[in-house]
Amino acid sequence: MDLRIVYSTKTLSPMRLIQITDCHLGSHPGESLLGLDTDESFADVLHRLSRDEKHADFVVASGDVASEGSVEAYERFLGALKAQYDLPVAWLSGNHDLDELMQQFPKEQVQREHIEFEHWQLILLNSSIPHEERGELAETELERLRHCLETCDKHALVFVHHQPVPVGCDWLDQYVISNSAQLLEILNEYPQVKGLVWGHVHQEFQARHRHFNLYSTPSTCIQFKPNSDDFALDDTMPGYRWFNLHQDGRLETGVERVEEKAYGIDFASAGY
Ligand SMILES: [Fe+2]
Repeated sequence: MDLRIVYSTKTLSPMRLIQITDCHLGSHPGESLLGLDTDESFADVLHRLSRDEKHADFVVASGDVASEGSVEAYERFLGALKAQYDLPVAWLSGNHDLDELMQQFPKEQVQREHIEFEHWQLILLNSSIPHEERGELAETELERLRHCLETCDKHALVFVHHQPVPVGCDWLDQYVISNSAQLLEILNEYPQVKGLVWGHVHQEFQARHRHFNLYSTPSTCIQFKPNSDDFALDDTMPGYRWFNLHQDGRLETGVERVEEKAYGIDFASAGY
């Protein structure tokens, strides 16, 4: 009799998490941002996901889902996901969103704030201030973060919209979360924190802070040029980030982009 213990591949395989960010969908289909149809580029990213990420488990959208915070944009976002890449999804709000509208969607349709899996937890923070570009975490959000980490010691990934540290672009780094020192102080205290992840900067970034990693992720629409003091667009393609979350707390991650395509972007634009 064979007494070896046979583990299912699912048990040993890491959880696969997908981050999409800064979709900037308009109120109506086909609205463009600096010449790029944001529905088109979002559909291209979803096409790539449905082709290459069939076995992922969960999607996080890290803000600026809409360009102006409209119910129509949020319904179209969730409808496109359902049609092209039907996975459980959670979201948080960015400076172009309206958090009060996003909160009206039922949790069965889109999750928020704190999601627990068998070995990992995701904590989603709201750094947006209605009708302002800058980011700040309300005292209640910082308390909620501390409560999540105090009451659950599963490996943790924390998501927020604005960057908590400078990414090297002066024009964007004026909007570093104004009280990010408090955020980092809390995260420093909890060894189960494995990563802090954001959107907003429309570019890939990675760094180490104390015992955890920092990541930002390309937008599903236009890209901003890394290391640029003034506003500048980059010609890299829209994309997403994947994470492999292992039971023992190890984490692997990477960025993937759609194939080269001429989107008609206005690269001479001086701002957005
Ligand atoms: Fe943003």
